[in-house]
Amino acid sequence: MMNIDALVDKHYGFGGIMEKIEAGLNLAGKDAHSLTVDDLAPLDEFHTRGRESTLEIAELANLKASDLVLDVGCGLGGTARHLAEQYKCHVVGVDLTEEYISVGKKLTELVGLSDRVELRQGSALEIPYEDGRFDVVWTEHVQMNIADKNRFYSEIARVLKPGGRLLFHDIFRGRGDPPFYPAPWAEDDSISALVTETEARAFIEQVGLEIDQWIEKVQESIESFKRVSAQIELDGTPPIGVHLLMGDNAKDKLQNYVRNLIEDRVSVALGMAHKKGEL
Ligand SMILES: C[S@@+](CC[C@H](N)C(=O)[O-])C[C@H]1O[C@@H](n2cnc3c(N)ncnc32)[C@H](O)[C@@H]1O
Repeated sequence: MMNIDALVDKHYGFGGIMEKIEAGLNLAGKDAHSLTVDDLAPLDEFHTRGRESTLEIAELANLKASDLVLDVGCGLGGTARHLAEQYKCHVVGVDLTEEYISVGKKLTELVGLSDRVELRQGSALEIPYEDGRFDVVWTEHVQMNIADKNRFYSEIARVLKPGGRLLFHDIFRGRGDPPFYPAPWAEDDSISALVTETEARAFIEQVGLEIDQWIEKVQESIESFKRVSAQIELDGTPPIGVHLLMGDNAKDKLQNYVRNLIEDRVSVALGMAHKKGEL
């Protein structure tokens, strides 16, 4: 029986991702050597509403060029590259999935951001940095794969400076019946560790973080999926998109996710907390 880390790595890093991206870029008529961060955004921001939600979170974060940011569970590093480009800050990304980190490093090089974006394979439950190092910890759509929530938020609190901010965007267990799988984050419930929003708030507060903002995004997320589906009906599947990261059953995963949201089987929210104490 594989441990959960191995199952997560296998779920996301199923092989051949760089080749799929290159084929998609070719189809879209993009030259790999003049790629921009924005060209990759439909693919490498692997969370609900993609860039749209990243912009909302960044507004809460009020980032400065001097901020050192850690993206926990950074995936391919799309958000890290966007933040480094937009705010000129230095962003470190840590992710369990080896293939995401190796592809992410190539993409970072291609868009010329290797001096400000550092991607590293590692676990959110053992963040490979010392206490109090980061001004900002960012995490989107990661904790739903992590059963040990106390350890997850303790590690985040540990690496934050006092007064430092946690920005999050997460999927939670809703009030309805159990969710349908496969979903984008799990083929079945073996690597899905959903808790309710109330439970997640308690985990965050238990580790010395104070919640400043908690904003439900269920309706916006459903509307966004409807808009994307209508566009696909009209134009077909775009060459570059998160479907490239979801394997052959991408359509089922996305349809189940929307149904889960509509039927309150899962919910989605974003927000900000800070570590108690003065910066
Ligand atoms: C849906 S993707 C989101 C990626 C990225 N945050 C984004 O928004 O594009 C979930 C990510 O969480 C990572 N992950 C899951 N469990 C993890 C853990 N224990 N430590 C580090 N990363 C983890 C996976 O490898 C995957 O890259």
